Amino acid sequence: MRTQILPVQLNSPSGRAAIAKAADMIQSGQLVGFPTETVYGLGADALQAAAVARIFAAKGRPADNPLIAHVCSLEMAEPLADFTPLAARLAERYWPGPLTLVLPRRPLVPDIVSAGLPTVALRFPSHAIAKALIETAATPIAAPSANLSGRPSPTLAAHVYEDMADKIPLILDGGPVQIGLESTVVDARGRYPILLRPGQISAEELAELAGDCLYPTAGSVERPAAPGMKYRHYAPSALVYLAADSSEALLIAARLPARPLFLVSVETAAELAASGIAANRLRPLFKRRDLAPYAQGIFAALRAADTEGEQYIVAEKVAERGLGRAIMNRLTKAAAG
Ligand code: TXA
Ligand code: MG
Repeated sequence: MRTQILPVQLNSPSGRAAIAKAADMIQSGQLVGFPTETVYGLGADALQAAAVARIFAAKGRPADNPLIAHVCSLEMAEPLADFTPLAARLAERYWPGPLTLVLPRRPLVPDIVSAGLPTVALRFPSHAIAKALIETAATPIAAPSANLSGRPSPTLAAHVYEDMADKIPLILDGGPVQIGLESTVVDARGRYPILLRPGQISAEELAELAGDCLYPTAGSVERPAAPGMKYRHYAPSALVYLAADSSEALLIAARLPARPLFLVSVETAAELAASGIAANRLRPLFKRRDLAPYAQGIFAALRAADTEGEQYIVAEKVAERGLGRAIMNRLTKAAAG
């Protein structure tokens, strides 16, 4: 199958035609790559089990890792799950946006979407193309990140093409995503949110709204709370090491058999340059005071390192609060194994 990439400018006739074409494909049970504000998704009609099965096949995704159903309104979400008072509050505050709610699943949702769990994950994205696609298809869209299982999530249409060429008929190109890390996932069944995957909407923010925000600690749950979090993830072929600052980065580099690529802050890059590291080994991605560009650029930087055949990466650690918690969560997984 040839994969077509269609650039989408929403308020143009060609943009509307691209959305209509993508929506037709969703309705006929095919897969479409599309942008959201977090990362690119690989979508199928969430109510057609056979279409959802194609997602697992295209990604090479383990069957026990459930998907997020994307909606474009509260009205579309309500028949899919039992909304708790907490979920209603979180949805009111954060939807549309990068928050996924795990709730008791209603019978309308096929087993395969939830990987057989009694719960379903729901998200109302804020990206205009994602919203237009769901609205036009007039059905909830099941969508994981549009990468091959285990690879860094796609933040550009070109990344989706890298992983999905010849496996899916269409990718909607909406340019680079805004956030760059996947949505915050919370279990919203109880009184307080339980953080299953950190994202841009932080635990601190959720605790302020809901009175508290809990974290499952290792060993506290029989099954991993967000099944996907147990798999190797976000992993480039290069080996990834984490360093707190330039002196730790230099120590690690000195022990490696080949020169690493440094994915670091502007400040650390300057210190490394002063210590004699060549400029072509340095990728300054962010300033220490503003982590948003680190979140936005990290997956693309990991992919580029692979394309360029890098063997070793040294990435800068950040403080584990707010967005920093989400960045460290992804870096730790990239560095695992
Ligand atoms: O930002 C995002 O969430 C992106 C865009 C495309 O919306 N999607 C995404 O999907 O990251 P995926 O499949 O790559 O990650 C979904 C995560 C996995 O860790 C999965 O295990 C968890 O959500 N999840 C899905 N359904 C769940 C459920 N019923 N209970 C617990 N965790 C669930
Ligand atoms: Mg993913």
